[in-house]
Amino acid sequence: MTDLKGRWALVTGATSGFGLATAHAIASQGCHVAITGRREDRLETAAREIRDPHRVEALPLRFDVRELSQVRAALEGASGLLSKLDILVNNAGLALALEPIQAGNPADWDQMIDTNVKGLLYVTRTVLPGMVERGRGHVVNVGSVAGHQTYAGGAVYSATKYAVRAISDALRYDVLGTGVRVSNVEPGLAETEFSEVRFKGDRSRAKSVYEGLTPLRAEDVADAVVWCLTRPPHVNIQSVLILPTDQASAHAVHRRAK
Ligand SMILES: NC(=O)c1ccc[n+]([C@@H]2O[C@H](COP(=O)([O-])OP(=O)(O)OC[C@H]3O[C@@H](n4cnc5c(N)ncnc54)[C@H](OP(=O)(O)O)[C@@H]3O)[C@@H](O)[C@H]2O)c1
Repeated sequence: MTDLKGRWALVTGATSGFGLATAHAIASQGCHVAITGRREDRLETAAREIRDPHRVEALPLRFDVRELSQVRAALEGASGLLSKLDILVNNAGLALALEPIQAGNPADWDQMIDTNVKGLLYVTRTVLPGMVERGRGHVVNVGSVAGHQTYAGGAVYSATKYAVRAISDALRYDVLGTGVRVSNVEPGLAETEFSEVRFKGDRSRAKSVYEGLTPLRAEDVADAVVWCLTRPPHVNIQSVLILPTDQASAHAVHRRAK
């Protein structure tokens, strides 16, 4: 087992959903966490709620992963953080809209690509050199079942998650021999703020995504991340594809009648 006690983790997108649950799950193992997102109030609250029960340090860092200058300033400005990070969970991400390409909004495409792909690269580029230098570390990227299969209206979101899978796979070559591990955790349908963001605040449309089925909870995904992190140092879990029992693929779900 890899003991997380006393280590430091950076979890991006920790103001809600998987990131918040993962920060709690990692902290419950005695690991200190730096948590990130754009919503400052949420970050402050989350840091407080992590520190108290788990008795670890929780450092809130507000930045937009799409802005390289913000990523660098926040991470390099957090005294000593880059020299002690053992874990990076690249989780910040989103889907926007469910439109065919011919009706799609290029601004939505830009935001998905800039966040899910370029943001993940910016954070990784900033954190990884320290891990390589120290000869240990673990990068967990949050992909999706949409990184294996496409679906109608999901072309650009899927493209970003295929890219996350490609980056995870290629990164394993880049760090081979350095002791750094790279895992891709790839969830299916999970009820977080994801659909509310996708449908731009339309709560009833968001709710309908999960109607009649039992989706994953954020804690189920956090569990998978912690499982990857706590394997012995010689074991690198490359990928965990985790779907609800009511889902067979990106486009096949079972819904119970009301
Ligand atoms: N829920 C699902 O069904 C599902 C399935 C497979 C994969 N995923 C993936 O899982 C990851 C987490 O999603 P979730 O379901 O937990 O959704 P969520 O509850 O909406 O959380 C998304 C997180 O990403 C952060 N974020 C978004 N854009 C950002 C930006 N530009 N800069 C910094 N932080 C940003 C948000 O923080 P702020 O808004 O505070 O910035 C928030 O903390 C995403 O990569 C998503 O694609 C989700």
